Amino acid sequence: MLTRIIGTGSCLPEQIVTNDDLAKIMDTSDEWIASRTGIRKRHLAKEETTASMASEAARRALKDAGIQADEVDMIIVGTITGDYITPSAACQVQDKLGAVNAVAFDINAACAGFMYALHTAYAYLQTGIYRTALVLGAETLSKIMDWTDRSTCVLFGDGAGAAVVQAFEGAEEGKMSKESRGVLAFEQGSDGAKGMVLSCRGRVNNNPLMENPFAPSYVSMDGQEVYKFAVSTVPASIHRVLEKAGLGVGDIKYFVLHQANLRIIQSVAKRLKADADKFPVSLDHCGNISAASVPVLLDEMNRKGMLSRGDKIVMSGFGGGLTWASAVVEW
Ligand code: COA
Repeated sequence: MLTRIIGTGSCLPEQIVTNDDLAKIMDTSDEWIASRTGIRKRHLAKEETTASMASEAARRALKDAGIQADEVDMIIVGTITGDYITPSAACQVQDKLGAVNAVAFDINAACAGFMYALHTAYAYLQTGIYRTALVLGAETLSKIMDWTDRSTCVLFGDGAGAAVVQAFEGAEEGKMSKESRGVLAFEQGSDGAKGMVLSCRGRVNNNPLMENPFAPSYVSMDGQEVYKFAVSTVPASIHRVLEKAGLGVGDIKYFVLHQANLRIIQSVAKRLKADADKFPVSLDHCGNISAASVPVLLDEMNRKGMLSRGDKIVMSGFGGGLTWASAVVEW
């Protein structure tokens, strides 16, 4: 069975907020944010919702793939900021697209959410249960930020990215595999013991037994611990997934990493002994959009014509949970 990404799409909110805009409402500066993170602006939702951005990204991905909504067998959305606890963001996307034949559900793996969703879809496709999957990362992180905490709120943005993934077998597989073998390997892990270094508590319990209900919770982060986790775990995960694929760092055209911080990306490049040019960047204009950052970057690359049939790329996501996942894909 050959599983290939056959289309991508993305959607960012209309409103752009620069570092200078933030400096007008809190004690920060473009110099501080840009020099420590590489972020210069981000898109923040006003009219948009997680489901509306996800649906638009999905429509664009289906168009890119040349697939009709009723051909989709499953929709998986990686998100921690769905608009409702139920229905899931994936069920909302199904409704908005009219993807009546799809099974739909969300995955909570924070910034690794898209990669977890992609791996889950891959497992369903490889076993022949389904043929066509719509895989998304979609977030409205601005609604779970503490806008009085300058050390976290300046880092994040909103947006959605999507990929259509399809399985091919038999004669079709044989024909296609000469050009590209699609997904070659996955590697994935979690470390719940360190989960509290990047956390956001869920809804508070206000049942009649509660005397002192908790206040609503926003994202809280030990930035330096998250940084240390990222720069050690991501290169190790990439080495493992390359080994599974029987490839080396030198075989890879691009490393499509979760966009948290430019210094993390540069450190990963250095530890892999890979050329920094092989690490495309979107965080300068998007900030960290958690589960959406890998598919949004992938779509930007696709639209710019940076990817040719047969190119080998690594995709890697990491973040809250703690979670991480990497894949090697032949485009
Ligand atoms: N503007 C100006 N000053 C700020 C600021 C802001 N937005 N945020 C924090 N500061 C200040 C702090 O108050 C502190 O001041 P002090 O020294 O007077 O106490 C100073 O800057 C340094 O703060 P610190 O937290 O030590 O900075 P840092 O060098 O560790 O950088 C991060 C902070 C968040 C940029 C960095 O830790 C990081 O990128 N971590 C990874 C986070 C991440 O990527 N998370 C998502 C993963 S999915």
